[in-house]
Amino acid sequence: MPKVEIPPWQATRLVSPGPVGLVTVKYRDKVNLLPIGWTCALSQNPPRIGIAVHPSRYSHDLLRRAGQFGLSIPGRALAEAVARAGATSGASGVDKAALTGLTWAEPTEIDTPLIAEALAWLECVIVSVVDSGDHTLYVGEVQRAAAEAAAYQDGWLLPEDEEMRPLHHLGGSRYALLGGPFEVPISNP
Ligand SMILES: Cc1cc2nc3c(=O)[nH]c(=O)nc-3n(C[C@H](O)[C@H](O)[C@H](O)COP(=O)(O)O)c2cc1C
Repeated sequence: MPKVEIPPWQATRLVSPGPVGLVTVKYRDKVNLLPIGWTCALSQNPPRIGIAVHPSRYSHDLLRRAGQFGLSIPGRALAEAVARAGATSGASGVDKAALTGLTWAEPTEIDTPLIAEALAWLECVIVSVVDSGDHTLYVGEVQRAAAEAAAYQDGWLLPEDEEMRPLHHLGGSRYALLGGPFEVPISNP
């Protein structure tokens, strides 16, 4: 089948639609929030995930100073809040919780609030900061993870109820939900 050529700068879109993450970062008494499309799994043991943050983001330096972050995984119901949080910078002094209507939930292992309305939470301590190009990769070691039982059991369930499916970002203003899962049985000849 013929393929269409894709400009290399846009190749990230071929591999990036992992779930959107709402990153929370707290420095002194200020809590900021930014949506991230570029989240990635890095290690199971120790449990580590990565978030790629552009240096122009207000959160970029806050993350370095805070040394930790919350990562809350939103569902479909939070898509508008995600888009709004991503269109405004905390540098303007705006309170993104007030802006989006999202509310904080108490963490247990870090000192950074999570998003109460999200489907899942990861509490992370930054163990490595990597210059990955025009973004900075913050490697977070997961101190605690929790999810709605109706959304996750040993993996995302992707149930009929779309509100229990994690939100994905395809680029620009396009978002998606994953379809239903299916099994691929492996049989050795
Ligand atoms: C769905 C979505 C995904 C985004 N993904 C990223 C990302 O992976 N990395 C990044 O640096 N910015 C990303 N952004 C942009 C930031 O969220 C946006 O610039 C935000 O306003 C930065 O907030 P801050 O300046 O308060 O830190 C994304 C925005 C949206 C809406």
